[in-house]
Amino acid sequence: MIYARVAGTGSYLPGAPVSNNDLVARGIDTSDEWIAERTGIRTRHLAPEDVTSSQLAYEASVRAIEAAGCTPADIDLIIVATSTPDYVFPSTATLLQAKLGITNGAPAFDVQAVCTGFAYALSTAEKFIRSGSHTRALVVGAEVFSRILDWNDRGTCVLFGDGAGAVVLEASDAPGILATALHADGSHNKILCVPGQVNRGQVTGDPFLRMDGQAVFKFAVKVLGEVAREVTEIAGLALEDVDWLIPHQANVRILQATAKRLGLSMDKVISTVGQHGNTSAASIPLALDLAVRDGRIQRGQRLLLEGVGGGFTWGAALVQF
Ligand code: UT7
Repeated sequence: MIYARVAGTGSYLPGAPVSNNDLVARGIDTSDEWIAERTGIRTRHLAPEDVTSSQLAYEASVRAIEAAGCTPADIDLIIVATSTPDYVFPSTATLLQAKLGITNGAPAFDVQAVCTGFAYALSTAEKFIRSGSHTRALVVGAEVFSRILDWNDRGTCVLFGDGAGAVVLEASDAPGILATALHADGSHNKILCVPGQVNRGQVTGDPFLRMDGQAVFKFAVKVLGEVAREVTEIAGLALEDVDWLIPHQANVRILQATAKRLGLSMDKVISTVGQHGNTSAASIPLALDLAVRDGRIQRGQRLLLEGVGGGFTWGAALVQF
């Protein structure tokens, strides 16, 4: 039996933290009190104008490859989850491949499932590895959401941040990813979207993130609870067997409501939304890497990674670390 095992993790956040009060100082009609109370967010990182997702992905990937004890030349599959790619094409994954100097012909492609992107990318890479066709995959979530925010819309611009997280997944006789579950329901596409496109040299439609916050909130809590139970059952385990829940980091109230639904203590939940804001596809691997590096996550522990995002999409992976 071939398993896909997390060999190493890495992450990268651009620049200095930007506080809620810094946003007030930039003229946004908000307050530290409102943002902290409604979302738990205190700071986020915002990439400088000339920094793109592939650059953030590169920094996170270098750290993950180093942690895995391999070299870029050992990577034979690259999947990047992003909704804020450098270009319409080529993919951010191929740009990352060039930056890493990988010339072995490894396939490289992007996955677009918004905040569920990392769960989709991880699950896809796992299937490549389990099939025996590939042995070492670089799986990245990288975003510059600051580029698609309407900075005049205080209901959304305070919520998001930029960053990247990466893992190296490798073939192993020992577990590994124990189970994954992915879902989508496109009928909810309008409650969280960027409804614009490049058309004959112009942006047509609306190029900014639009969200019905309360509808998203309710949907997120419901499906995060459901998919956590589903993936645990597929793995033949119980929720008590999970050492750490690592949800997509959108709002601390969503994390708390999900933990409550699952009967898990918040002590078992990795929460980075306070420091990072919502970094979409980057949020799960960023939280994972932070908790690996600060020593909370230990080898052999069981991790439940789960995400939900525009589409709507949602998914989870149960991982023996
Ligand atoms: O990856 C998934 C992405 N998104 C999410 O997960 C978001 C899910 N939703 C949420 O987190 C919450 O719905 C929000 C944090 C977005 C909003 O919280 P809420 O408790 O649902 O607030 P609300 O939208 O009902 O707004 C309440 C009030 C409004 O004022 P009035 O109409 O009551 O006078 C807003 O205008 O808060 C006002 N408001 C703000 N005030 C200060 C909205 N944004 C802000 C702001 N600062 N930034």
